[in-house]
Amino acid sequence: MKEISRRKLTKKVAIVTGVGLLSPGLLMAAPVTPAQVEGPFHPIDAQGDTDLDLSYIAGHIKPATGEVILVRGRVLDTQGQPVANALVDVWQANHHGRYSHPEDPNTAPLDPDFQGWGLLRTDAQGRYAFKTIRPGAYPLSFLGDQRWRCRHIHFKVTQPGYDELITQMYFQGDPLIAQDLEVAKAPPELRHLLIVKQHADQATGLPLFDFDLTLAIA
Ligand SMILES: [Fe+2]
Repeated sequence: MKEISRRKLTKKVAIVTGVGLLSPGLLMAAPVTPAQVEGPFHPIDAQGDTDLDLSYIAGHIKPATGEVILVRGRVLDTQGQPVANALVDVWQANHHGRYSHPEDPNTAPLDPDFQGWGLLRTDAQGRYAFKTIRPGAYPLSFLGDQRWRCRHIHFKVTQPGYDELITQMYFQGDPLIAQDLEVAKAPPELRHLLIVKQHADQATGLPLFDFDLTLAIA
């Protein structure tokens, strides 16, 4: 290819993609996972069991009520590098849509066998995984709002050297997503990063959701 035509081609590509002025580093950067509200129901009482199986509390006779699911993913930085040993703090409502939290005004049943809270650490590849119950949706009538919160799991990811990320994971196909006031606050072009598709775990047959989280380097 002649020099002149190569220059023309480069210019054309830059115009089409709109990235001509970006450095290679910026070109590769992945978007930071959109933040979502922390909400008022982060656990406040110390809990003996915060392990990766939220569907069962150590020492109980039976597991939690509801559909057992698996959630896993990776914590990465915007360059795609794994964030090892990050604290992944997850909490959620039970099968009935009720939090084990004294401030939750929902009258749906509590589940004494649901752990509801997990504190996990990513491995050297940035991976985390936990087992839980598919959370129930809950009404916002206590706020005087007719809408419902769609099914969601809260995440708070922290690691020194990175900006803390507080967000929520949603379930693709949940009909309540379309009317959810918190989902609507995520930038439309990044909303898909929070809505995960269901797969079947090959080993157990359980519903499996892959949710990767991208942190900003501080
Ligand atoms: Fe919530």
